[in-house]
Amino acid sequence: MYSEKVMEHFSNPRNVGEIENASGVGTVGNAKCGDIMRIFLDIDSETKIIRDVKFKTFGCGAAVATSSMATELVKGKTIYEALKVTNKAVMEALDGLPPVKVHCSLLAEEAIHAALWDYAEKSGIVIEGLSKPKNDISEAEEEEDY
Ligand code: FES
Repeated sequence: MYSEKVMEHFSNPRNVGEIENASGVGTVGNAKCGDIMRIFLDIDSETKIIRDVKFKTFGCGAAVATSSMATELVKGKTIYEALKVTNKAVMEALDGLPPVKVHCSLLAEEAIHAALWDYAEKSGIVIEGLSKPKNDISEAEEEEDY
């Protein structure tokens, strides 16, 4: 049911933890399954490169694996490049997810967006293409077809 890569990232997740005095912190939940994700970003204020990223989750196995991969994909990138890392790209990098678990991959994407939003607010900048994130992503899911 799960690819080897999903199982590997679930068993050995990368970038788990917290960053003290993070440049941006984002928390999102999915009220339907009750899972929560928090992402911490350490961003270089000059280059806008994400120097470090960590996540903490009360989430299912698929949420852990997709967050692990998502943090790997945004680390070392600029905030603008990170914004383009979609849950689809994360799923592709993991060789796919079962259809019923696709929504789990949205937690990481949305939490990264929320952390970028927090960073933008704190540093008084506007990140083009970034809109205010939702605290509960299940509201958005109802509008989308999977
Ligand atoms: Fe909630 Fe996977 S079931 S994130």
